[in-house]
Parts: sequence; structure tokens; C-alpha cells
Amino acid sequence: MTKQNIDWDALGFGVYPTRSMWQSTCPINGDWADGSLIPYGNIEISPAAGVLNYGQGVFEGMKAYHSAKDRIVLFRPNMNGKRIANSSHRLCMPELKTDYFLNAVEQVVSDNSDFIPPYGKGGLYIRPIVWGTSPTLGVAPASKYTFMIYTAPVGSYFKGNIKPLNLIASDSYHRAAPKGIGNVKAIGNYSASLRPVIEAKTQGFDEVLYLKADDERLVEEVGSANIFMRKGNQLVTPKLSGSILPGVTRDSIIQLAQDRLGLQVEEGELLLSDVFSADEIFCTGTAVVVTPVGQVTFRGKTHTINDGNMGEAATELRKTLLGIQREDIDDPYGWVHEVKTT
Ligand code: COI
Repeated sequence: MTKQNIDWDALGFGVYPTRSMWQSTCPINGDWADGSLIPYGNIEISPAAGVLNYGQGVFEGMKAYHSAKDRIVLFRPNMNGKRIANSSHRLCMPELKTDYFLNAVEQVVSDNSDFIPPYGKGGLYIRPIVWGTSPTLGVAPASKYTFMIYTAPVGSYFKGNIKPLNLIASDSYHRAAPKGIGNVKAIGNYSASLRPVIEAKTQGFDEVLYLKADDERLVEEVGSANIFMRKGNQLVTPKLSGSILPGVTRDSIIQLAQDRLGLQVEEGELLLSDVFSADEIFCTGTAVVVTPVGQVTFRGKTHTINDGNMGEAATELRKTLLGIQREDIDDPYGWVHEVKTT
């Protein structure tokens, strides 16, 4: 397959126009049915669209890799399909059936396969979105919805080579409220995180570590990723208590940590005070994969984790996860899904 003429080594995590994107529409109580690839580009939308006025929109993040077996593969795409259906349900939008979702993703990936970075150079980030399209002035669900998928070739989410993150634990902002929409991939969750992240970056931090809104002794997540702490043989990650996003990478790391590293994994309560004295801390997500945390600052005091270095569990888990995703190592779980390209 001839690849696009792209400087693959210079890729960061940003928008990159490709050939085509998926588009389908659906009435409020209808079924997603038709849909097709259209040329990548701008779209027209009413200024009164539900998504623009009331944030009625949800999305997903996935990656397609060019694997060591010279195949184009996705990673656990059914989990994204189920999650976008849950997210849509929470925001009163018609749910996509997993097969329909997967077929659309496969078509976009196949048509844009020359934009997939060569083996080892990154991945094609896939961004499925569902939103309320029709005009709605009163606060109510839209009557018509759009499902779109666009893609972009990407390298690392954080600038440069992988290096331990410098986080600030925030007591000024919460990411999500209990019983709110923190556990679904609603677009509004991410707009709420913009101010905290900008302020953190201005102070020299990479990202914000959010605490739980109903108990600030507990850690929640990093906004763009879930969080894990290792102490000795124990790995702890906040349980999916309602305001935490059920990450596909989070779920995979729990499995790999038990099976490959023999770690005892607890989905429970993660105390901020335990984070300060952890053997290692790392974040997981489709975009960040497994990224270590070297420092956490809270109320002006900086705590260095593992001397600011990437820990052994994060190193091994990142290697194993990417190894499975890129088919360097066997996948006993059936997580890798081949996309036939045309
Ligand atoms: C992902 O990891 O794919 C995400 O959706 C996080 C972020 C880039 C919004």
C-alpha cells in the first residue's frame, strides 16, 4: 500500500485533513440506517443546533495501526461501540448498534488507510462523534442527529518523547459531579477541563489531576486519561463509581497487570495522600497509551514519584499493550481486530 507523503516522525497529536469521513443522520426515535463516506471537509450546521446550544454531543477516541504482520488493525473497537451507545443514551440521543458503528469505522479506516503511519510510527486516530443537529431553542433533545467519523494520523499526545508528566492536583476545579455525566464521553466534560488545563500549563504543569467532587481526599482521573498507582505488588485505580470514564485502555491495563506482571489490582478508592508516596503513578488512555507521572503538586507542595522516572510497571505495561496493539506479540485476548483494506 502506498502511503501518503507525510513526515511521520514529525507527527504530534493534531488535526490532519484526510480523504474522507463518515456521515449519517437519524431522527430522535429512529434507527441509524443509511450513511456513507463523504469527502473530508467542513460541514454546514444551524446556529440553533442542539449540540451548539446545549452541548448535546458525545464522542469516542480509537486508533488504527499498521501492524508488524502488515495488517491494519483496531483495538477492542466493540468497547468503543458500546460506550458511545451508553453515552448517547445518557444524552437522550439515538443509540448506535455496535455492528453499525464498527462497519462505519472500518469503512473510514479502509478509505484512509494510506494516512495510517507506517509500522512503529504512530497510529491513525479515529474520532467518532454523535450530535444533535436540528434547531432547538427550548432546552430539549434535538429531533435529528448526525453521526460522523473523521481521522487524523498522530504521534504522541504529549510533546516530544515519552517523559514523566508533571501534574497539579486541583482543589479549584472538579472534572465531574457524582451522578452527572463524568462516566460518559460527553463533549461538555472536555470543555469544562479547558480552563483548568490552560491554568495548569501556564504554571508549567502538563495536566491536571482531578479530585472527587464529593470527597477531595480521593483522586478521580486526569481528564484526558485514567490514573493508576503502584505500591509494591499492588496496583490501584479509582473504581468506576459514576463520575469516572470507563477507559478501554484502563480495562486492558487491569487485565495485563494481573496476567503479565502478577500485580494485585484493586479498583477502589485512591487517596491523594497515597499518590504522594507511591512507587509509581501512570495514566492510561487511547491518546496517551500508558504515560508515567513524575511529579504531583498539591497546594504548593511538590511530590516527586519514583525519582521522577518512568517506573518498571508502566514501562512493561506500555510495551506489552503497544506490542499487542501493533501485533509484535501474540494477543491471547482477541482484542486486535483486522480491517480489510480495499
Ligand atoms: C482519547 O484518549 O482518545 C481521548 O478521547 C482523550 C482526549 C484526547 C480527549
